[in-house]
Amino acid sequence: MAATQKFNEQERNPLNSLDEWEDAVLERYPDPEAIASSKSTEEYRNYDNPERDTVREFYRLNHTYQTYDFVQEKRNEFLKFDKKEMPVWQAFDFLNQLVDDSDPDTDLDQFQHLLQTAEAIRADGHPDWMVLVGLMHDMGKVLCLFGEPQWAVVGDTFPVGCAYSDKVVYPEYFSNNPDFNRPEYQTPTGVYEEGCGLRNVHMSWGHDEYVYQMMKDHLPEPALYMLRYHSFYAWHREGAYGQLLDSHDRDMLKWVKLFNPYDLYSKNPVPPDWKELKPYYEDLVAKYLPRTLKF
Ligand SMILES: [Fe+2]
Ligand SMILES: [Fe+2]
Repeated sequence: MAATQKFNEQERNPLNSLDEWEDAVLERYPDPEAIASSKSTEEYRNYDNPERDTVREFYRLNHTYQTYDFVQEKRNEFLKFDKKEMPVWQAFDFLNQLVDDSDPDTDLDQFQHLLQTAEAIRADGHPDWMVLVGLMHDMGKVLCLFGEPQWAVVGDTFPVGCAYSDKVVYPEYFSNNPDFNRPEYQTPTGVYEEGCGLRNVHMSWGHDEYVYQMMKDHLPEPALYMLRYHSFYAWHREGAYGQLLDSHDRDMLKWVKLFNPYDLYSKNPVPPDWKELKPYYEDLVAKYLPRTLKF
């Protein structure tokens, strides 16, 4: 039985939509410079909001079930890229099948978020490969369309196989994780070497690693860091897990930090004029990506 088959509907999809997780991240980091202080974290947690309960349940499931072994299983399952193959532009239509049932009128679809992120990056004059990162960074959310539970697609990511940082949101739920009782996984470096570099560290499984693996032969190194670690808030916002980093990670951190505000703060209820933008993005995709993407 595949690792995620045993969960019922409520355990698979605790959120009304994936956007609830992103909204919660935005609330935690309301401005580009904000680091969650203990006070603001307290405020964040005590704020009376029914959506908060679904987000809390989402993190409980994420922290409980994302074990080291779970990550290996998911890597074996999805990094063969033997599920589907389609032209890039068809892949956006595929991703857009992820709709927000709770509020179809007010929420923009996935493609609009990607386009707005890309456009905000372009407006600031960053390199075209970074614009392409904006356009592709959440393509990994198609994992949901393969039947994966929400907590195995989105959520802040964290290293597995070593001690959990209390800088990961809702750290108390890690005590439910079977790895919590495996002493070899609970030292600061766990199964890794000190300073081994993030490339040697397994992160909790989700849309970041999946899209990184999809894009890794096509984009420059800073772009790949942006894709691979954009949900690793404990690192790029909180500065945790320094014991695992090497000098290359420390060097690349600035790129991950540069990307994050475009992801979080570019949402706008007015969709960009796609007709006008289409030729630019068709050229951009053709410049860097193969004709088809494998899933
Ligand atoms: Fe994302
Ligand atoms: Fe995003």
